[in-house]
Amino acid sequence: MTRNIRNLLVTGGAGFIGVNFIRWLFDQPDAPERIVNFDKLTYAGNPLSLLDVAEQYPDRYVFIHADICNAAAVRDAIQTHRIDAIAHFAAESHVDRSIVAPDDFIQTNIIGTYTLLEAARQHADQIRLFHHVSTDEVYGTLGPTGFFTEETPYAPNSPYSASKAASDHLVRAYHETYHLPTTLSNCSNNYGPYQFPEKLIPLIILNALEGKPLPVYGDGLHVRDWLYVTDHCAAIWQIMKHAQPGTIYNVGGRNELPNIRVVETICDLLDTHAPPLPNGAPRRSLITYVKDRPGHDRRYAIDCSKIERDLHWTPAQTWESGFAKTIRWYLDNSAWCQQVRSGEYQNWIATHYG
Ligand code: NAD
Ligand code: TYD
Repeated sequence: MTRNIRNLLVTGGAGFIGVNFIRWLFDQPDAPERIVNFDKLTYAGNPLSLLDVAEQYPDRYVFIHADICNAAAVRDAIQTHRIDAIAHFAAESHVDRSIVAPDDFIQTNIIGTYTLLEAARQHADQIRLFHHVSTDEVYGTLGPTGFFTEETPYAPNSPYSASKAASDHLVRAYHETYHLPTTLSNCSNNYGPYQFPEKLIPLIILNALEGKPLPVYGDGLHVRDWLYVTDHCAAIWQIMKHAQPGTIYNVGGRNELPNIRVVETICDLLDTHAPPLPNGAPRRSLITYVKDRPGHDRRYAIDCSKIERDLHWTPAQTWESGFAKTIRWYLDNSAWCQQVRSGEYQNWIATHYG
């Protein structure tokens, strides 16, 4: 089947994956006529990452500064822009923050998703698809072997993953109970351009460039499956265009690495491609083992054979090619890094949306 999507609402489109999704989608031959980016602009939202898109597509790109928990604002967006599909990215997304302060995670990830689902249900004649972007972290942790499949029971371990698990269950319930046409993807750790430097890869790149310590939690042997962000974008669009309502897909990069290997690889790439540190030391000398994260999941690994089989999607990037592209992007975009590192982007937001 092929679904025709004309007016797409993207929630959280000013965040890392949302920005990449909007940029990637405008380049596709079957891009929607209009993309409406609905974002509250928390610390993780950066509209500067889309300034060129807003200029290039003045009639096709719309930005709405609003909270997904605001039912009236959501309804208004759906009606005003005759939305026929929703790609729901908006979330509080950082595990460490969820451990310190879970409130916003419960509010945005659970109540926000519920608010969107309700609005979609109230516009059932209009909404062809509600796609929910979720995480493999809902499945909990793996031992040294095995993979998460779409049938793996949920066992979330952090307030972040528990809030995402709750939102996944609501999506499922709205499909079963109200026949809302939903699809859901659970994906592994993304990396690439425009990622906020609180997540491992951009944090390590920027600290290593600045000669700052590179914090590695615990013994550094926790394993993540790294997915290049535009591979994820392609998977989401493939699902939105072709998947049957009610379907769930796992999306992974087939790139399992222990954290210490990720950090060492970034150090070595920067030693080769960036100016040396002032003291001439190799960047691996900055690696600092720190106290482990509480409840730290040991290993994530995704079996993505279902989406490969059903929708003919496979990740295009290996971790070697994806890491090299990512390092190059951060080196070539020092102005963006500086705006984010210094908090300048928040001054820009305060001036334009304050
Ligand atoms: P992000 O933290 O970079 O961006 C989140 C965006 O949502 C920001 O622009 C923020 O302003 C916006 N937002 C937050 N609360 C909001 C609210 N109440 N109303 C409207 N907008 C709000 O996150 P990301 O890394 O781009 O992740 C996007 C989605 O993908 C999330 O749902 C996340 O759970 C999921 N995911 C991410 C990864 C990953 O590795 N980054 C992996 C698996 C799944
Ligand atoms: P992160 O990027 O926060 O993603 P997630 O927790 O969703 O997997 O972390 C990726 C891995 O890197 C995770 O095992 C925790 C670890 N980590 C560090 O070792 N040091 C750090 O400074 C950060 C942010 C993460």
